[in-house]
Amino acid sequence: MPVKAYDLTGRTAFVTGAAGGIGRASAVLLAEAGATVHCADLDAPGLDETARTIKDAGGTAYTHHLDVTDREQIRRAVASCERLDVMAAIAGIMHSSPVLETRDEDLDRVLAVNFKGVLYACQEAARLMLAQQIRGSIVTMASGAVDTGGPGLLCYGAAKAAVVQLTKTLAGEVGRHGIRVNAVAPGWIRTPMTDRHDTEAQAHTEARMSRMSPLGRVGEPEEVAQTVLYLACDASSFTTGQILRPNGGVAMPW
Ligand SMILES: NC(=O)c1ccc[n+]([C@@H]2O[C@H](COP(=O)([O-])OP(=O)(O)OC[C@H]3O[C@@H](n4cnc5c(N)ncnc54)[C@H](O)[C@@H]3O)[C@@H](O)[C@H]2O)c1
Repeated sequence: MPVKAYDLTGRTAFVTGAAGGIGRASAVLLAEAGATVHCADLDAPGLDETARTIKDAGGTAYTHHLDVTDREQIRRAVASCERLDVMAAIAGIMHSSPVLETRDEDLDRVLAVNFKGVLYACQEAARLMLAQQIRGSIVTMASGAVDTGGPGLLCYGAAKAAVVQLTKTLAGEVGRHGIRVNAVAPGWIRTPMTDRHDTEAQAHTEARMSRMSPLGRVGEPEEVAQTVLYLACDASSFTTGQILRPNGGVAMPW
């Protein structure tokens, strides 16, 4: 018998970045908890695979092939939901370059996807929840980079710090309507994003992160999805404006 506060039966969730990694794991887990899940991503084949996984397990999923940097695409996709209880704004990209070599176009792209993409999703979700008088939950995806900074992390860390600011600001503005807004700031998680690092660099970073964690390992997408589910459901009914850190206890001293 599942814990009632985690039961999302009858609720609808919208997940960006749902074609892979943490987004896919979150979409699948929210569906397992009973939610109807709208999956959004740039990667159409990946989206179909996520939807198939949900449907094969008996859940309900819809797909939206979109770019989170396009406000109108996000607006239309969110507006197509009959109701909206949960927004999980997870889509993001990695970028690493030293400050002195960072180009305007790098900064613009990372801010567009990792910050504006989250902002658009939060705005459209909050508008719909307010219009439908739904005491919903909005979950944003930050990163451990907001606590530590670190070499190469200017663009990525700045965008994620902006996500934290957005999360706390929006939480303060919509709380009186019963809408909660929280951020997740994971440590190093093994996903297609981290797999894109070349093998040697990845093995090196994984080994370093594992050594720094009291748990002695890096994380899996499903472990971050558990945090997303917790923030999405009634188990976290008195939690808003917070940053939760599924990071294996790692604090990175550069
Ligand atoms: N993996 C980690 O170690 C880690 C750590 C901290 C935070 N994060 C954050 O978690 C989130 C998910 O990361 P992940 O590791 O699962 O990465 P991932 O690359 O596996 O997944 C990201 C997803 O976002 C989608 N996406 C990218 N740009 C998009 C756009 N413009 N429009 C729509 N979809 C787009 C991709 O297609 C992909 O499916 C990101 O925001 C990332 O910054 C990841």
